[in-house]
Amino acid sequence: MEKIVVNGGRMLHGEVEISSAKNSVLPIIAASILCKDKSVIENAPMLEDVYVICEVLRDLGCNVYIDKKDNKITVETHNITLKEPNMDLVRKMRASFLIMGPMVAKFGRFKLSMPGGCNIGSRPIDLHLKGLKALGAEVETGHGFVEVDAKKLIGNKIYLDFPSVGATENIMMAAVFAEGETTIENAAEEPEIWDLAMFLNSMGADIRGAGTGTIKIYGVKELHNTCYRPIYDRIEAGTYMVAAAMTHSKIKIKGVNEEHLRPVISKLQECGVIIHTLNNGIIIDGSNKTKAVDIKTMPYPGFPTDMQAQMMTLLTLASGTSIITETVFENRFMHVSELCRMGANIKIDGRVAILDGVKKLTGCEVKASDLRAGAALIIAGLCAEGTTQIGDIYHVDRGYVNIEEKLKKLGADIQRVKV
Ligand code: UD1
Repeated sequence: MEKIVVNGGRMLHGEVEISSAKNSVLPIIAASILCKDKSVIENAPMLEDVYVICEVLRDLGCNVYIDKKDNKITVETHNITLKEPNMDLVRKMRASFLIMGPMVAKFGRFKLSMPGGCNIGSRPIDLHLKGLKALGAEVETGHGFVEVDAKKLIGNKIYLDFPSVGATENIMMAAVFAEGETTIENAAEEPEIWDLAMFLNSMGADIRGAGTGTIKIYGVKELHNTCYRPIYDRIEAGTYMVAAAMTHSKIKIKGVNEEHLRPVISKLQECGVIIHTLNNGIIIDGSNKTKAVDIKTMPYPGFPTDMQAQMMTLLTLASGTSIITETVFENRFMHVSELCRMGANIKIDGRVAILDGVKKLTGCEVKASDLRAGAALIIAGLCAEGTTQIGDIYHVDRGYVNIEEKLKKLGADIQRVKV
């Protein structure tokens, strides 16, 4: 077991390089299943979640090579089999369910363990299954498994009741070889959806409109080899932006696309943070006093739920009262009790959190309850008085590449210790 220890009170300076998006790379690795022979992912983030999806593919018979030195992942699919993957492995991570679409597209059927519950909500898969059924698949669930059988997938019009990221991705991948035209309406518009479509198109798929609410997939016969570089991680970038704002520091975030961060940038500006966009990055200047703001999480291009915990941390010290409404997940306020231990004044009423800004946070022992909650507590530690120890740090390792190294390089007093 490891924990992160932060001595608060240091200003940050310099620049930080952002890794590729975890939420792009997971579906992209799943989509590699569709490739005839070999796909290469460049600048892949070396993260726990990425290793898990690679393990799942290996369990199916793929050769997966992870080159940690060059951040490159190579997937060879010629030995892939229609095997039921190890249940414990699949249940480690909900995103494992993203292999369902490609496996059904490739083999016409697949049986997979139901994704487990998760700390931030029940997260059903009804929309994934609705899409597969619309393409002509028969779906059976029971005894903890989902079994999908499709003699032939045929393009159809699918309307999603909610723009689910995972369902949009799974349906998009399932439809790649479907006969004719598939339309996904009310599709998720996240940049990572666009990235997955670009990866599939780089192998010869014909997907149009990804990144908008209507995606059209025209079935093709086969996908060829590719080498692809995913987009940068907008949530990792947003996390460092909040870290700078929180410590009233000025830093540069390198290599990011301002457009994907617009919802976060606009909220930070409302808080009084000064932001300059450059050709190859963003400069964050947090020298102003932070003002309270209201936030409602929404599907993209709304404010991302994956930035809610970090922004809440910033607002604990803002002048005035902030209201945060979490509309995407039903149970994503588990960091609140930990922030309150550090001195924050937050009340929760269902999906609404009401924050009254306090003068300071004080360091203590806290626990990461999920990935973004863990990041939020590290940020809180950066400006808290004294020492903050964040336990259950394995959650953070699922989604942040070398977080303590990157923060140390920015001047933070932070270290990882074995417990
Ligand atoms: C993805 C991201 C996650 C992010 C989330 C929302 C990955 C690997 N993970 O998760 O970091 O927080 O998008 O931006 O990309 N829902 C249903 N039925 C379904 C599917 C989803 O009701 O069939 C509901 C969920 O319970 C949840 C909401 O839709 O309340 C959003 O889920 P979804 O967009 O599917 O998120 P994920 O793809 O799981």
